[in-house]
Amino acid sequence: MKLGICLLRGVAFASLLAAGGIGVARAADDKPPYVVKNGNEVDMTTYKGFLYYGDECLRCHGPDGMGSSYAPNLTEALKTIDKTKFETIVMSGIKQVSNSSDLVMPAFGTNPDVVDNLESIYAYLKARSDGVLNRGHPHHLPGT
Ligand code: HEC
Repeated sequence: MKLGICLLRGVAFASLLAAGGIGVARAADDKPPYVVKNGNEVDMTTYKGFLYYGDECLRCHGPDGMGSSYAPNLTEALKTIDKTKFETIVMSGIKQVSNSSDLVMPAFGTNPDVVDNLESIYAYLKARSDGVLNRGHPHHLPGT
């Protein structure tokens, strides 16, 4: 009888562990697209994103994704725009018709530097938007 209870406890504990395992798997699916340590050390993906952002986006969206008088702050925009929407906007561009000004987000769908590095640019801006990456030039974490 005592052994029976013991076995039952064992089963209950095992299923708790299994439930925990599922939780961990889910968290892994949602894991951020970047690696950032100490606010300015980043993996190669995020580092490349920083460089390509500087080449292709900074002239309108300002240093560190913070926006300019011409184009919106992308660290704010990425709090509501998901990755799919981000990719659509960057590939196809946008011009708000209700907007009386001539501000246009150009389409980058034929620019290989952007198309091939969209994941990286997203990772960099997402890290900025999530508040884990400081302003300025990040350092590449060796081995990542
Ligand atoms: C020539 C200037 C210019 C360049 C270069 C540029 N953008 Fe834009 N971008 C804009 C403008 C202007 C808007 C706002 C357009 C509107 O709302 O009508 C915009 C909007 C956006 C938005 C939507 C923001 C929101 O709040 O809805 C995203 C995302 C974006 N840009 C990403 C990028 C990325 C990534 C790059 C570099 C690959 C880039 N942009 C390069 C001018 C630019």
